[in-house]
This record gives sequence, structure tokens and C-alpha cells, in this order.
Amino acid sequence: MNKITAAITAVGGYLPETKLTNADLEKMVDTTDEWIKTRTGIHERRILKEPGKANSDMIVPAIQEILNKKGLSPLDIDCIICATVTPDYVFPATANVVSDKLGATNAWGYDLGAACSGFLFALTTGAALIESGRYKKVVVAGADKMSSIIDYTDRNTCIIFGDGAGAVLLEPNSEGNGVLDSILKSDGSGREFLHMKAGGSYSPATIETVMAKQHFVYQEGKTVFKFAVKGMADVSAELLERNNLTGNDIAWLVPHQANLRIIDATAERVGLPKEKVMINIQRYGNTTSGTIPLCLWEWEKQLKKGDNLVLAAFGGGFTWGAILVKWAY
Ligand code: UT7
Repeated sequence: MNKITAAITAVGGYLPETKLTNADLEKMVDTTDEWIKTRTGIHERRILKEPGKANSDMIVPAIQEILNKKGLSPLDIDCIICATVTPDYVFPATANVVSDKLGATNAWGYDLGAACSGFLFALTTGAALIESGRYKKVVVAGADKMSSIIDYTDRNTCIIFGDGAGAVLLEPNSEGNGVLDSILKSDGSGREFLHMKAGGSYSPATIETVMAKQHFVYQEGKTVFKFAVKGMADVSAELLERNNLTGNDIAWLVPHQANLRIIDATAERVGLPKEKVMINIQRYGNTTSGTIPLCLWEWEKQLKKGDNLVLAAFGGGFTWGAILVKWAY
């Protein structure tokens, strides 16, 4: 009997309509369109601006798109995993809110936090649920409303991040397609360079933490950049090597969209020309857990059955990793 693999069988996405351009940011902080474009590759990002709208309001339409494409009912979903650092609430899990809003009353689910590597960690765990033979339809979403934790007076961070959600459906496959291998890593000693200082049990919210702006993203960009370039490139190269593959065998690199210079360095290391690299950072910036599924969503029509994809990310924690996926449709 063939081994069961977890195949991605549909992709959905959602991006808020409101655009925050570099020109807008020039009016908010001491920066320039030229600096942002040359240092990051970002031209604009999307912001979920409507009051009362949360991360789940982006995830629900992304999953709804999958259900429409596949002709499925919300009741068909067994499990929903939401990778995010901007959950609707500290608890309950965003996955609970999503299943309620969708009417996915047969699904259980949970949130997974691994910052910018969240989608990779969630995809690997979601795939394991399918590979075990126990579940038939697992939805893995990667989504963040980064605008809810960004200080729009801090030019070090506000130029980078945006809001967006992507989701994939995982189903059993016996043709050898789907999630074939993954290498995931973490190093908690890197947490001081990219984190939110307060709001957790270490430093609960007080008037002082709010006044000190400790509920926003804090990043030491240069240090994170250095680790990201090495981490993402090394792990992608390691993944290819242990699967006896070279850049020639890979149809697409699907990199986390944090900085165009990090993406370029990874592509060069694994020997892939720019035409084989999914890049949409110029339009959406860094949507944290959302970047990789949003790339799959945008490129879905260009993907062919049997294509080898390398998904790679680096993020806060530090967390990083790469996944080899053989496209199933
Ligand atoms: O997604 C999760 C993982 N995160 C990442 O991978 C992000 C990694 N880091 C980066 O992408 C980059 O480090 C940044 C885009 C955040 C910053 O770019 P950089 O080239 O590392 O700039 P820097 O922080 O070294 O700053 C260089 C200069 C500084 O001025 P001085 O000290 O040389 O006079 C900054 O003050 O640029 C200045 N600067 C800015 N200037 C205009 C910093 N931010 C800005 C800005 N506009 N927005």
C-alpha cells in the first residue's frame, strides 16, 4: 500500500482593500519611498482598517474561497489550524472563532505561534494529522493583522508590515504528492531581537506598559537580518541536499516575504533564477504568517501537478525552516 501523504488540494486568500503606500508613510514618519524600496523592496501594504474587524475576519473569507472552489460544506472540515501572532484574543483560540463564523461545527482546531515561520510549523503539524490517517480534511491558515501591533510612529517597523490571510486545504494523497519533507528549527535565545515586550504572563498589561509602547512589535532589524539571511538560505540548501535535489529540480521557491534582499540571498544560495521565485512583497509587505499561503494563492494558476516547491521562512523566536512540497493538481 502506498504511503499516505498530505497534499495541498486548494488555496484561498484574503487581502484588505485599504492600501498604505510608501507615500503615506512619508507623511507619518521620517522616511522616504526611495529608502523603503531599496532597503526592503516594499512599495505598499494592505491594512484591515474597519473598526471591529479582527484577524478571523480575514481567515474566514480565505477558507470560504477554498470551500467554494472544492464544492465543500463547512461541515466537511475536520480541523482548522491558525498560524498567527495576532489572534483575535489571547484566548479562546482564533481557530475557535473562525469555526464558529464559518459554521464548521464538526471541526476542532488550535492556534500556532511561530511568528514568521508560523505557516511552515502549522503546515508540518497539519500534514502529520493527515499522514496519521486519522483526519481527511485539515485547513491550515496563516494570517496576521500586523497593523494591530505596529507603532505607526516607529520607522524601524511600521514600513515593513501589512495585514493579510491565506489558507490551504490538506487531504490524503496516495500518488506521492504533497508535503514530502520539512526541516524546522528554533532558537529561543534570539527572542530579544524580535518580540512584543508586554501583554503576556511575563509582563502583563499595565498603564505603564501601554505608555512605554510595549504592546507593539520591537525589532532590532540589523541583527534579525543577519540571522535571517543565513538561516533561511542554510535550511533551504539542507532540505535540497537531503532530498538529493538541486535548484534545477525546483519549479518554485516560495519564500517568506520579509525583505527582498533576504529573498534574493536565499534564491542565490539554492541556485534559483528570479523567474522561479514567488515575490509579492512590493504589494503586501510582510504579513508575517500570511506571506507564504498568500504567495501560493497568487501563483496557484501557474502551478502544475508534480512541481517541486520549496517553502522557506525565518522569523521571531528565532524560528525558521523549509518544506518540500510536490504540487498535487
Ligand atoms: O519577518 C520576520 C523577520 N524579520 C526580518 O527578516 C527583518 C530583517 N531586517 C530587515 O529587513 C532590515 O534590517 C530593515 C529593513 C528592518 C532595516 O534595514 P537595514 O538596512 O538593516 O537598516 P538599519 O536598521 O541598519 O538602518 C540603516 C540606517 C540607520 O541610519 P544611520 O544610523 O545609518 O544614520 C537607520 O536609522 O537607516 C535608518 N533607517 C531609516 N531611514 C529611513 C531605519 N529605518 C529607516 C526608515 N527610513 N524607515
